Amino acid sequence: MIGLRRVGPDEFTTRLDAVLEIYIAAMDPPADQLPGRKTIMGNHALHPGFTCLFAERPDGTPVGLAYGFHGVPGQWWHDVVHRAIAERNGEGSARGWLGDALELAEIHVHPDHHGKGIGRALVMGMCAGRPERTAVLSTRDQPTAARHLYRSVGFVDLLTQFVFPGGYERYAILGAVLPLKGWARRGTADSGSGPPSTAPSHSGG
Ligand SMILES: CC(C)(COP(=O)(O)OP(=O)(O)OC[C@H]1O[C@@H](n2cnc3c(N)ncnc32)[C@H](O)[C@@H]1OP(=O)(O)O)[C@@H](O)C(=O)NCCC(=O)NCCS
Repeated sequence: MIGLRRVGPDEFTTRLDAVLEIYIAAMDPPADQLPGRKTIMGNHALHPGFTCLFAERPDGTPVGLAYGFHGVPGQWWHDVVHRAIAERNGEGSARGWLGDALELAEIHVHPDHHGKGIGRALVMGMCAGRPERTAVLSTRDQPTAARHLYRSVGFVDLLTQFVFPGGYERYAILGAVLPLKGWARRGTADSGSGPPSTAPSHSGG
């Protein structure tokens, strides 16, 4: 039996090694990226509105996690994505999607526990009760489980085939209006409750 538990920035920071273990198991990143990734994650815990969910075994061992925070200007991801959406779809669209957004930074489930609904529960749990108008994230622009999962709860493509500065992999930038549409209407790309007033319903990517 796996349970979800909310974790504050202090506990998240002290358990960064466990967080990184799940990240490594789920993403299989190059080893030389890990120290930098750990530093980035530690800095994320300092962002406003930071929230994290651990998916844990009864003995407290985490098998999955998700975390995010309130995006504000001055954060690297926020500024890069804002600029890219503004260039492509106009400043109003960028503000509509990012002006009051929960930025979902990481969602990972250990491969031994894939396909049991943990990822979906993490996404829904992260977005439930948040004060922001939207949730936004980036994910590899491939037909992955993550792409399927996000689409099924109402995320739409804001940008596709996007390469971050200094990177080479292609990402999709996704956004959803909060609250998420939930469990009942899985499997469609319709954002359900409609876009924020200044944002497009679909960017077309
Ligand atoms: C994305 C991830 C968190 C999903 O976790 P999970 O616990 O397996 O997710 P769930 O069991 O809730 O399943 C979510 C959906 O993905 C679907 N799915 C699973 N594997 C899939 C695959 N290879 N291709 C497409 N869909 C897939 C499931 O069928 C389910 O959809 P459904 O409810 O419509 O049937 C997990 O696959 C993961 O950690 N992936 C690697 C890390 C990653 O990509 N993280 C996201 C970074 S943005």
